[in-house]
Amino acid sequence: MTTEALKGEILAALADAASPEAVEAVRVAALGKSGSITQLMKSLGRMDADERLRTAPLYQALRETVSAEIEAKKAALGRAALEARLAAERVDMSLPATPVEPGTVHPISQVMDELSEIFADLGFAVAEGPEIETDWHNFTALNIPPEHPARAMHDTFYARPEAGGERMVLRTHTSPVQIRTMMSQKPPIRIIAPGRVYRSDSDATHTPMFHQVEGLVIDRNIHLGHLKWTLETFVKAFFEVDDVTLRLRPSFFPFTEPSVEVDVGCSWEGGTLKVGGTASWLEILGAGMVHPRVIANCGLDPDEWQGFAFGCGIDRLAMLKYGMTDLRAFFDADLRWLKHFGFAALDVPTLSAGVGA
Ligand code: PHE
Repeated sequence: MTTEALKGEILAALADAASPEAVEAVRVAALGKSGSITQLMKSLGRMDADERLRTAPLYQALRETVSAEIEAKKAALGRAALEARLAAERVDMSLPATPVEPGTVHPISQVMDELSEIFADLGFAVAEGPEIETDWHNFTALNIPPEHPARAMHDTFYARPEAGGERMVLRTHTSPVQIRTMMSQKPPIRIIAPGRVYRSDSDATHTPMFHQVEGLVIDRNIHLGHLKWTLETFVKAFFEVDDVTLRLRPSFFPFTEPSVEVDVGCSWEGGTLKVGGTASWLEILGAGMVHPRVIANCGLDPDEWQGFAFGCGIDRLAMLKYGMTDLRAFFDADLRWLKHFGFAALDVPTLSAGVGA
């Protein structure tokens, strides 16, 4: 067969090849180890010098042409495959996305984020503790010994006593986080501890599970003035009003001495509550100077370290700020209520953009 005839045959086969595999088969048949063109090239070695000089350029030209055609065909098939894929995977950006019902951030979570943002700006870290707590952390270490009448105020959920006689409780306040923090960190300490707490109590203003935020500062030379300033700064930032008056009333907690209950000045305008002024008062938290015995219970020297602590109901704060009337709605998981009072997921509270936005 002449080289021209062979070329015609191979190119015809190539033209028929419709897939990369078919092209590869043509390549192997022509240029593979025992392919037709490879055989021709091998036959050059058996020729005498004159004949080889005449024939070699013809064979080389044939090999080059065929290789080039095969490469071109491969590239063309590759492009066609890509085009087909692009066409198949085309996304119509003008179509509406699959509708996803957007969820909302629960007002409690929102308020917790707001609190963290405000106190982070004052240099407070966020601390956590377990909700199933030892009797010792929840009571004894906080200067509430087993037979102390203050235990009766807490309507505690007790777990069945364990083998060793120890009885776990659902924490009745976030104050045990004070103990855990003082025992695991070296002062100076500045923390807040938001979280769930439990008491056996249920009506329009009480739910068996509710939320508190604890605050704790332990340092040298801390006094009640620091507590008052911190609370005022917090309340102003939280309610976004400058005209805030706090009233500190003497009170009693076993773990603080002196103890105060703190009211925020407010007014009732047309049936709605407004924070600011001194027309009326609303209790928002309990606080005081950490009792020296509590500091000593945590292994610190009360002559060197003092501090203040406060505990505040988060649900109450949320109701005040966002105008909800029934606490129980917080826990009903009613989608209509959540849509109305919930916050957009991207509406992250920041001090610059406003914590109440
Ligand atoms: N733990 C108290 C309560 O739940 C609040 C409190 C915390 C009071 C810290 C003083 C200091 O009522």
